[in-house]
Amino acid sequence: MESNIQDITFDKKLFGADFAWGVSTAAFQVEGSCDIDGKGQSIWDVFTAKNGKILNGHNANTTCDFYNQYKKDIDLIKELNIPNFRFSISWARILPKGTGEVNQKGINHYNRVINYCIEKGIEPWITIYHWDLPYDLELKGGWTNREVISWFTAYVKICAQSFGDRIKYWMVMNEPGVFTGAGYFLGIHAPGKTGLKNFLSAIHHTTLSMVAGAKVLRELLPDAQIGTTFSCSYIEPYTDKPKDVVAAKRIDALLNRLFIEPVLGLGYPIKDVPVLKTIEKYFKAGDEANLKFDFDFIGIQNYTREIVKYSFFTPYVSAALVKAQDRAVPLTDMKWEVYPGSIYQMIKKFNYPQIKKLYITENGAAFPDYVTDGEVNDTRRVEYLQAYLKEVLKAKNEGYKVSGYFVWTLTDNFEWAEGYNPRFGLIYVDFDTQERIIKASGRWYANFLKQEILSVPVWEGLH
Ligand code: NOJ
Repeated sequence: MESNIQDITFDKKLFGADFAWGVSTAAFQVEGSCDIDGKGQSIWDVFTAKNGKILNGHNANTTCDFYNQYKKDIDLIKELNIPNFRFSISWARILPKGTGEVNQKGINHYNRVINYCIEKGIEPWITIYHWDLPYDLELKGGWTNREVISWFTAYVKICAQSFGDRIKYWMVMNEPGVFTGAGYFLGIHAPGKTGLKNFLSAIHHTTLSMVAGAKVLRELLPDAQIGTTFSCSYIEPYTDKPKDVVAAKRIDALLNRLFIEPVLGLGYPIKDVPVLKTIEKYFKAGDEANLKFDFDFIGIQNYTREIVKYSFFTPYVSAALVKAQDRAVPLTDMKWEVYPGSIYQMIKKFNYPQIKKLYITENGAAFPDYVTDGEVNDTRRVEYLQAYLKEVLKAKNEGYKVSGYFVWTLTDNFEWAEGYNPRFGLIYVDFDTQERIIKASGRWYANFLKQEILSVPVWEGLH
């Protein structure tokens, strides 16, 4: 990787005129105002209030205050020349109890955000569910309760009816693998549930809800682009011993194939992860067909790769990740390996013929940032973004589908169980004063995006 941040050996033009450039955020991580204007509690409000769940006892009651600062932040998106802004809707702001009465003040908030984006010439992209389930629904079992399908579709319908006149790009869910895995199996994310029963039922109901929600959008908004997003990491075996290779294949199926394959009509990857067979317990007549949807696009979100080895002691999968800290590789503040080739491998992996369009809906890095003389010189983030983007370009040039790239994230914000320690933003936030400082990475992205692309051949202008 280059250490000189000015030295970019590629430019925006190489990605083509239609390539979508953007930045992504999520409601719970940025909004704050957790109990303002009629908002109900979400599972994350409750989880963060519990002792010991979040590093340093942080919570997102205020975070970077996007609820109030949205104009300032959208102005910054404009200043950075970013044409597309992906953000999520908080279900509990719209339906404080998850179902039933609609909170008009919540709808008004998103109308303000959407309208301000449009006023500034920025295309708003909406994620309908980014992990913040209304707490009242969790009291009824949350994603483990099959009724969630009807709760979710009712919520999707309200979003479509309220915002569909202005929103063209929709993502039904964000990283179902992470919220079911961390939230319903490992217990390290909200709602903090554990065990196979919770995990498998949550997976199945999430897939059914994602598809049912997509169908609602398609029916109500026939001209919209309907997508959903998945986390993914390049998986490699620790050695080429057959046991490690099989273990890696199992983890690859679990982390990279679990949700996309049923959606594409290929079913859950039970052959490679035999324990998933138990999921059939939660099937009802007709479910097979209802796992499938012809999405207009798929968003993939990649940060790193994982190395996997056989482990006799790990239940269900007999596989374990070899921590990046133990591998003498460059690390981010999340202790994730910096491995640019991972994004290239993931674009290749998601080259299923059934996928029409693929966007990178998240990529970015947390590094320690320091303010020196009013500036944040985050060279490592600039290097990271450039190196990953070069791999995106390589995949594109080899003919793989990839139609856009969104940086995670706009401003430093609440990083779930890690609290405020990891800073992922292109813009630094002083959480005491809410002051924002555009980091060197933000300035680099702004410069990169500034380059004009002539989508109309020049000679046409001569007529
Ligand atoms: C994926 C998630 O969608 C987002 O919420 C999170 O902050 C980033 N990855 C970084 O961990």
